[in-house]
This record gives sequence, structure tokens and C-alpha cells, in this order.
Amino acid sequence: MGTLGGHETLKATPAMDSLMSSSELLPRHGPGFTLRRLSTADLTDFQDYRHDEELGRYQGWLPTPDEQASAFLAEMSVAPFPHPGHWVQIGIAEPESQRLIGDIGVFLDLDATSAEIGFTLARIAQGRGVATAAVRMVVDVIFKCSAAERVIGITDARNLPSMRLMERVGMRRIETGRLSSAATPAWSTPTS
Ligand SMILES: CC(C)(COP(=O)(O)OP(=O)(O)OC[C@H]1O[C@@H](n2cnc3c(N)ncnc32)[C@H](O)[C@@H]1OP(=O)(O)O)[C@@H](O)C(=O)NCCC(=O)NCCS
Repeated sequence: MGTLGGHETLKATPAMDSLMSSSELLPRHGPGFTLRRLSTADLTDFQDYRHDEELGRYQGWLPTPDEQASAFLAEMSVAPFPHPGHWVQIGIAEPESQRLIGDIGVFLDLDATSAEIGFTLARIAQGRGVATAAVRMVVDVIFKCSAAERVIGITDARNLPSMRLMERVGMRRIETGRLSSAATPAWSTPTS
């Protein structure tokens, strides 16, 4: 296992502003992508990038058979978002075709004051700033629809594209010792 690095971003105004529901906030459109709920219709595209070994190198997930992936997508299509104590995955899609090109996982701590994110973008869509803009948008959605006052991301210290992304988003590096044990290690444990 490699060394883990953590980054965090804080809510700019931790005031008592009224929270919006995620159905008011999704889908949302950004430059070159749509952020939307996952669907069972995403199975082929989801399986394509989830079976890319290079993409999963530093991820906690392993490729799963179609039946299992389909059940996961069905669950994610209706899962409350965010859902304290659970990972919920949101899709990144091409704006016109709605083809799935990636996903962003959000784990809201049980006390709902802190969230963790994990992100994946298919190789065909990388290198254009899509993941950065999508992560920035998800952080905004988390702050708008939950009481979370900080969002963290944990990555393998060898995962330079992931760390560059979090820095572009404005997250700052933190000691992993400060991270909550509630943060699911599945996202922080590399598979190699
Ligand atoms: C982490 C990951 C999403 C980053 O993908 P990415 O394509 O580098 O990120 P973006 O889509 O934001 O693109 C940014 C890159 O495009 C470049 N770029 C080109 N045009 C750009 C534009 N118009 N705007 C912004 N960036 C642009 C940036 O310079 C940057 O490249 P660099 O890091 O070499 O400088 C991707 O590597 C991945 O899915 N990895 C596997 C999963 C993983 O390990 N996730 C992290 C653990 S949670």
C-alpha cells in the first residue's frame, strides 16, 4: 500500500443558509459535461471504464460482473443524496449523448458535518478539465444540500493527477492523521 495523501476544502460561509434538496441541484451542466444521477442504462459505459485496470490502479473498487454492476447502478439511481454513513455515486456524462464518462462518490459522515469524495473519469475524457469542473460542482452541491462544512479527498501519494486535480479545485493538503475513521477506507486503499 502506498502512502496516503489528504486534501480538504471548507465551506466559505458556514452560516445557517437554507439547504436545497439534491433533486433541485441535479442534473447540472458544466463545461463539456452533465452531472446527473446514475442509471441502469449506464451499464455498458460504466463497465467499460471500471474494467480499465490503469484507471482502477489507486482505487478501492474492483471490476464487478454485469449483474452486480447493474444492481449497483439501480441502487445509485434512487439512493438518497447525500446519505449520511453511505457512499453515493453521481454520474459524469457527455452533455449531448448523455454517455457516462465517469463518476464521483460522496460519503457524508454520520453526523453530516464532513464529507469525503472520490472521483473517476474514463481515459477518453481526461486531459480537458472535465473532472476538475465536475468535482468543483459536486463540492458545491454538497455544501448546498447538506450541513457539511468541509469536504475531503484521500488519495494514494503516487496518484499525481488526482492530487493536481484537488489542488486545482482549491483543496488544501492535510495530514491523513486528522481524517475521520468513518471515511471509508475503500477509497483510500490502493489496489496495488
Ligand atoms: C484523477 C483523474 C479524474 C484526473 O483526470 P484529469 O483528466 O487529469 O483531470 P481533468 O479532467 O480535470 O483534466 C485536467 C488535466 O487536463 C489539462 N487541461 C487541458 N485543458 C484544460 C482545460 N480547458 N481546463 C482545465 N484543464 C485542462 C490540465 O492541465 C490537466 O492536466 P495536468 O494535470 O497534466 O496538468 C483521472 O486521472 C482518473 O480518473 N484517475 C483514476 C481514478 C483515481 O485515481 N481517482 C482518484 C482517487 S479518489
